[in-house]
Amino acid sequence: MQSPIQAYLDNLHTRLSSLQDGELANYIPELSKADPSWFSISLVTMDGAVYSTGDSAQKFTIQSISKPFVYATALADRGVKFVAGKVGVEPSGDAFNSISLNPKTGAPLNPMINAGAIATASLVAGETPEAQWQRIIKSMSTFVGRDLGIDEDVYRSESDTGFRNRAIAWMLKNFGIIDGEPMASLENYFRQCSVLVDCVDLAFMAATLANGGVHPRTGQRALPLEHVERVLSVMATCGMYDFAGSWVYDVGMPAKSGVGGGIIAVLPGRFGIGIFSPRLDPKGNSVRGIEVCRHLSRDFGLHVFSQAGEPGMALGRVYTAAQAPSKRQPSPEMRSYLNDHAHRIKYLCLHGYLAVDSVEYIIRRMIDLAADSSCFILDMHQVAGISESAARLLNDARLRFAGDNIALVFSRIHGRHAIEHFLSTTSPKNDRGYLSFEDNDLAVEWCENHILGDFAKPTSERVSLADCVLLRGLPPELLAQVEKVASLRRYRQDESILTTGQACDGRVFFIEMGHVSVLVPLKDGAHQRITSLGPGMSFGEMVLLGQTTRSATVVADCEVSCRVLEADDIDRLARDAAMLRIVLLENISRDMAEKLRRATQWIAALA
Ligand code: DON
Repeated sequence: MQSPIQAYLDNLHTRLSSLQDGELANYIPELSKADPSWFSISLVTMDGAVYSTGDSAQKFTIQSISKPFVYATALADRGVKFVAGKVGVEPSGDAFNSISLNPKTGAPLNPMINAGAIATASLVAGETPEAQWQRIIKSMSTFVGRDLGIDEDVYRSESDTGFRNRAIAWMLKNFGIIDGEPMASLENYFRQCSVLVDCVDLAFMAATLANGGVHPRTGQRALPLEHVERVLSVMATCGMYDFAGSWVYDVGMPAKSGVGGGIIAVLPGRFGIGIFSPRLDPKGNSVRGIEVCRHLSRDFGLHVFSQAGEPGMALGRVYTAAQAPSKRQPSPEMRSYLNDHAHRIKYLCLHGYLAVDSVEYIIRRMIDLAADSSCFILDMHQVAGISESAARLLNDARLRFAGDNIALVFSRIHGRHAIEHFLSTTSPKNDRGYLSFEDNDLAVEWCENHILGDFAKPTSERVSLADCVLLRGLPPELLAQVEKVASLRRYRQDESILTTGQACDGRVFFIEMGHVSVLVPLKDGAHQRITSLGPGMSFGEMVLLGQTTRSATVVADCEVSCRVLEADDIDRLARDAAMLRIVLLENISRDMAEKLRRATQWIAALA
């Protein structure tokens, strides 16, 4: 089935191909050799899916679209303060080649006009102009996701005819904006404008900005997160020059155009858009490019000022540990305590991108629940991202709840850098930081221990075989015989006792002391804990039901000692005393029934 997005782009391309307005740029002679009918549209998602139509592979020079990326590089290399001392962020409202300098400092008003871009090219890291050029081309290549090169003919053509830019470069030198050799910086500027790209490249550059500075396919970080919003802000206010006002009004996405016929538009957290059509309007913007963005913005609702999502939508299911307790097998005493108090552990399933408004709503819901809560587990599985201020608000709430002896922990963040980054960097200095668990089971067990207090303290409790659940109901004389044949095994912390897929060796393990975790392997090589067992519990008993290979991995969580029964010994004893097999099978089926009930309870809680 053709994707509706692809069909939409194909249709839009066909409709706008009839638009013949605009002229090729010719003040750089080489640019006038372009084929005016060239036209392509590309869109890249945050996970790197590409939709493209038209002359997608047609190469052209990037021209002014290089400017936000070189500005980004200068910010990363020299920092906000230093760069702000050389180039402003105010829209000039003038044309791209206007000599818009701050009357007092001589600083160009913004880095999107030629003056600002020439200054910016001189600011990137590098001891020599060649080193600076290598820095520029490497950075732009990271944004595209492949090694880039330049169109020597266009470069030559511009360098030979760029008299206005040469004058601007000397003025910037005159005002001390450019420290080094101005012509060398200007040549680097001409080179950056002559970088060869295609429409899909542009969409990836835009998508990398939309994806918080990380390339959606290569996963490479092209720009520190904190600079992304600064680059997008300058693109929004200055990227389309003296058309910026109408652009934000009609289209409402940070964008940048180039006289090579390219336009990029960025929808933060969602899409990167690239368009190529060399017919330009008098302001130097691609005519078809502008129309494509108008249609996309209107038809897909991409205007950044359109009503943001409903804050409440960020909060999905709220349920308790009474519905979804941890998968460990607590002692009967702990179980009865948890039955009375587990409702005080609340799961809150969060969704989408968490901004201040959605986090405000989530915190208000937690405050409503606080009177009857001891722990909140924020399940982040469906969370796409979080803003810095929202993370700060959540950390603040976490500490305030801690002040009321209510624990707030996170689960299932799964290494999503953007979320972990802000939750870590917005934790107050003297704070030990937020707690995050690989999955809800580990999170709820921690919370259960939190409300169980000393009750749950792992003790060096040692139990005998008589206390083991699987042997409950066994007559003492039979138990004595079992005691005789059971061997004692000790395991160090993190030692693997059984491994998934291992051939069954007929042994059944009865935990005398310590705790083990039962894990099943996941696709990505990780493991999912399915339960944890303590003194009096057993594992490996499925061998008694004819299992031939071990179905899970068992790892010692701490010092563990087990009494081990060989299946052959059980068979031999059971030949004389069938009661042994009856008691074992009865307890196994009772235990399996309990596990089934709890699994159904979990599924019901998550449904
Ligand atoms: O410096 C110039 O004039 C060109 N290399 C770049 C200008 C440009 O792309 C303006 N954008 N619309």
